[in-house]
Amino acid sequence: MSFLWLHRVVVLSDIKLIQEAGNREELIGRNFIEYQALKRGSVDPLNMDKFPGVIWSRGNTWQEQRRFSLQALRDLGFGKNRTEEMVLEEVADLSTYLDSTNAEPINIRSKLNIAILNALWRITTSEKLSYDDPRLKRILVLLDDVSHQFGSPINALLFSNKIVLVLAEQIGISALGSLFTELGKYVREIAKPLEAAFQSDCLTNFVEHYLKMAKEQEQSGEMQSFLGKEGQSNMVNVIIDLFIAGSETTSTTLHWAMLYMILNPDIQRKVQDELDEVFGKGHQPTTSDRAKTPYTEAVIHEVQRLGNVAYRAIPHSAEKDCYLSSGHFIPKNTMILCHLESLMKDPEVFPEPDKFDPVRYLDSKGNFKPHPRVVPFGVGRRRCLGENLARMELYLFFTGILAKFNLERAFPDDKITTDSLYGFVKYPKAYNLRFIPRL
Ligand code: HEM
Repeated sequence: MSFLWLHRVVVLSDIKLIQEAGNREELIGRNFIEYQALKRGSVDPLNMDKFPGVIWSRGNTWQEQRRFSLQALRDLGFGKNRTEEMVLEEVADLSTYLDSTNAEPINIRSKLNIAILNALWRITTSEKLSYDDPRLKRILVLLDDVSHQFGSPINALLFSNKIVLVLAEQIGISALGSLFTELGKYVREIAKPLEAAFQSDCLTNFVEHYLKMAKEQEQSGEMQSFLGKEGQSNMVNVIIDLFIAGSETTSTTLHWAMLYMILNPDIQRKVQDELDEVFGKGHQPTTSDRAKTPYTEAVIHEVQRLGNVAYRAIPHSAEKDCYLSSGHFIPKNTMILCHLESLMKDPEVFPEPDKFDPVRYLDSKGNFKPHPRVVPFGVGRRRCLGENLARMELYLFFTGILAKFNLERAFPDDKITTDSLYGFVKYPKAYNLRFIPRL
């Protein structure tokens, strides 16, 4: 146990304890001070049980909003699988852009961010935006800022003292509160036309699913967190949370994937050979034949192990005093960090843990076997709720790009490393690469 500024923190690196922190009722809380609740438009900023949204909420609000969000994302993926269609259109747009680079060296980071955010925007609103749309660009800047703010030591104060944070905002060394205020304004603007045109028999996006749920709850009155002002605040904050949790995590994983492909050209060729055989050369893969591409699956799994973008998951908080099964005492309000890296780089489990080696996950017949210690989406009841969507996006973007382009370092003698930078996510140092059309 140690202290981060004034706050008590415990870092867990043992699989059993991480599973415990993921599943025990008293260890799956979140602790975010009231000041943030105010900036997020909470109906009652002094009551942490009313903290809106899903990432930092707790109690009934969290349970209701999480259950709903999981179901809505699932429903949007069913039937004609609109979600996959929308993601595929974004992959096609990105390919068009990559073609236009004429194999010149580029840093692909911002384009990956925009493509993934655009896919999320469509899932949320059905609206398709161009890469140049000012709203999309502004939201990207805000999300990038939120990520950097979360990574900065000054914001560790967030978890310690409200007065210090207010002061930090006033003298301009923290801007998290105002970023949330602006994000909230954008999301309200997104939702307004959808509310005006809402018809409950035709649900094509996340906002419409939310509106339907809110109407049903008005009748039954069962779930408080969907009603009145509280419901409105939750809708806005759940959407902000999906943007925060779902965009940079996914795009940064893809950025790592591109990096590992230029560092391992033989592995890149093997993925392309497999995709060519299953889907035909240059054709966009879809998830229906995903099971026929075990090598590609293993490569994505290894990218997620080593990229490990959500390196410290999202801090949990102890809801009351308790003992871990190891005998350690955890006082109420202790911040609990689950150090996923310790699990995914354990040399006892993954020999030569820094080596990029997808064969770790292939059995003797070449079948893909995901490793139970590769847990990039976290563990337990707070585990990532966008996991299925993220897995689909990673597969479609990664395979879509490799089906059409050879990825090469910008210049043969470029020094490219796998060193990391840290914000809300762990991302690679800037690097350039070329996308050379395969056909
Ligand atoms: C490769 C991409 C992604 C990775 C690696 C990732 C990883 C994680 C991790 C480690 C957590 C924390 C688990 C915990 O607190 O114990 C989390 C939570 C969360 N993720 Fe993801 N995530 C990804 C993509 C997404 C997407 C696409 C969405 C939705 C659109 C999403 C939505 C969320 C939400 C809402 C939470 C909070 C869940 C809760 O508190 O109940 N994530 N994610």
